[in-house]
Amino acid sequence: MWQKLVLVTVLASFACQQIVLSKKIVEVPEAVKKVLPHADGALLAEFDSLFNRLHYNVDYKLRVLRMNQSLAIKNLNAQFISRFGIVITEIQQEKLRVKDLILQHALEIDGTQSPCIVAANDEAIRQATQAAADISLAAELAYADMATASRVFFYPQVQAFQNSSTDLQSAVLEKLSRSNIVTDLDIVLAELAYQYEGEEDKVERVLAGVEQELENFQEVVNNVRREVWAMADSIGRNFVFNIQMLLEEALQCS
Ligand SMILES: *[C@@H]1O[C@H](CO)[C@@H](O)[C@H](O)[C@H]1NC(C)=O
Ligand SMILES: *[C@@H]1O[C@H](CO)[C@@H](O)[C@H](O)[C@H]1NC(C)=O
Repeated sequence: MWQKLVLVTVLASFACQQIVLSKKIVEVPEAVKKVLPHADGALLAEFDSLFNRLHYNVDYKLRVLRMNQSLAIKNLNAQFISRFGIVITEIQQEKLRVKDLILQHALEIDGTQSPCIVAANDEAIRQATQAAADISLAAELAYADMATASRVFFYPQVQAFQNSSTDLQSAVLEKLSRSNIVTDLDIVLAELAYQYEGEEDKVERVLAGVEQELENFQEVVNNVRREVWAMADSIGRNFVFNIQMLLEEALQCS
């Protein structure tokens, strides 16, 4: 769009005068037109407030997006913990049930101290410890994947938009610092108008950019969730299967 020559008018205190900037003719934003014709200083102030309003809108959007991202991570953590909680409860109940049955059998054979029973009890503890370690590992993988996904997909994009949005707050001052405001006021105003036009759709760009990153993040999340669910299920299933075998062996102790 900037490649095309845009033919519009800048009116300043230079009413009806077109401002040509590197062969482009740029338009004064509506908000600035409202204060025309005015003192030049007022125009600079109006540009400053325009850029600041833009910064505010971008900043607000970024905050909402960050809040949504935090909420999504919070919900995801709750889902993971609830899933692990179900498996942990299942493992504990099964462990208690098997321990009781082994004890009952030990009492029946009057063999609570028998090496066979003691070994079975030790093995039950070992299996429960192993299941707990497996759950820790699954939690660690889930945490690492999610943290990486946030770091890679979401935050750099947000940070980049935040940085460039922050620059808007000083746009006018920055322009003044690099121009001769006395001789080049019309050029400065035109450049500011040009710059503002280039940034005007920033909120849409931020939304599109960050939403894309959120989609990428969501895809990672879905994969992690599938993996962690499968891991949790298999930890529970393996424990139940192994401790059942153990119980059958323990019931053979005599
Ligand atoms: C933030 O989340 C809310 C509630 O889920 C949603 O309605 C809103 O569109 C989201 N906003 C953005 C900018 O993603
Ligand atoms: C944003 O600015 C901060 C602080 O100046 C800097 O550390 C960071 O690298 C910048 N990030 C991006 C993506 O530009």
